[in-house]
Amino acid sequence: MTRTVYVNGEYLPETEASVSIFDRGFLFADAVYEVTSVLGGKLIDFDGHAVRLERSLNELGIESPISKEDLLEVHRNLVKENGIDEGLVYLQISRGADSDRDFVFPDTDKVKPTVVLFTQNKPGLAETVKPIKVISVEDIRWGRRDIKTVQLLYPSMGKMMAKAAGADDAWLVEDGFVTEGTSNNAYIVKGGKIITRALSNDILHGITRAAVLRFAREAQMEVEERNFTIEEAQEADEAFFTSASAFVMPVVEIDGVQLGDGQPGPVMTRLREIYLEESLKKAE
Ligand code: PDD
Repeated sequence: MTRTVYVNGEYLPETEASVSIFDRGFLFADAVYEVTSVLGGKLIDFDGHAVRLERSLNELGIESPISKEDLLEVHRNLVKENGIDEGLVYLQISRGADSDRDFVFPDTDKVKPTVVLFTQNKPGLAETVKPIKVISVEDIRWGRRDIKTVQLLYPSMGKMMAKAAGADDAWLVEDGFVTEGTSNNAYIVKGGKIITRALSNDILHGITRAAVLRFAREAQMEVEERNFTIEEAQEADEAFFTSASAFVMPVVEIDGVQLGDGQPGPVMTRLREIYLEESLKKAE
C-alpha cells in the first residue's frame, strides 16, 4: 500500500514526495528527528517527543517551523490516513535546502527548515517481546548525543557489527562504562535495584526512559542513576533497554555471557506491563 506522507505542509503519496538534493539533512546530517509510537491508533507520549524536538532544534539554532498543535494534527492525520493501529510516526526536521553546498549555515530569512513525517505500520508492536543478545562496541559518536540528530551512521554500523557477531544489538562503551544502546537506553537490575546511566550530553534523554523511571519510582522500585560497566552488567540479575519503538525489551546475553537463566526477568517484565498500561491511559 502506498503511504501518505507529509512534506513541508503537503500530504502526498510516498512515491510523489521529494526533498532537494541540497537539503542539509542529506548533505550534512544537519537535521533532528523523533520517533513516536502508536498503540490502538493513538500517540504514546506525544508531548514528551514534542518537547525534546523543541530542545534539539534550539540546541542547533534551527527555528521551529511548526507549532506543537499543528505537529500533533499532522501526526494524527497520518495515523488516520494510513490506518495505523500499532506502529510508529517518524518526524525529521532539517535546517532546509540551500541553493548550493556550503558548510556555513544559510540565512534563516532565505532558507526554511524541511519538515518530513511518515508512518511505519508495526502490527503486534505491543505484544512483541524478543530476548535480545548484545555485544559491546566502543562509543565513538560525537559529544552531543543529547541532541537527537540524524547522524546515525555509527549506530547503524554498531547494529551491523552485532549482526555479524550473531547478536541483535550493540551497547556502546566509553571510558569503560556503558553509555546506551545503538538506538535505546540501557539498564541493569541487581538485587531488585534498577541501574541506568544518569542524564548528560553523553546519552539521549529517552522519553521512554523518563516514563519508565517515573513509573518504577511510583511503584516503590529502587532506581539508581549511575555508570555501570559491561562486567557489572554480565553479573547482573537482569538487563533491558527502552525506546519508543521497543518500549521495554529484555537483554539476555552480553558479549556471549548469558544473564541468569537467559529468560526475560521479573523486574523488566513488570516495568513493561506498567509502561504499556500507564502510557495507553494518556495516549492521544
Ligand atoms: N531511538 N538512545 C538513542 C541513541 C536512541 O536513538 C533512542 C531512540 C533512545 C531512546 O529514546 P526514546 O525512548 O525517546 O525513544 C536512546 C529511536 C527509537 C530510533 O532511532 O528509532
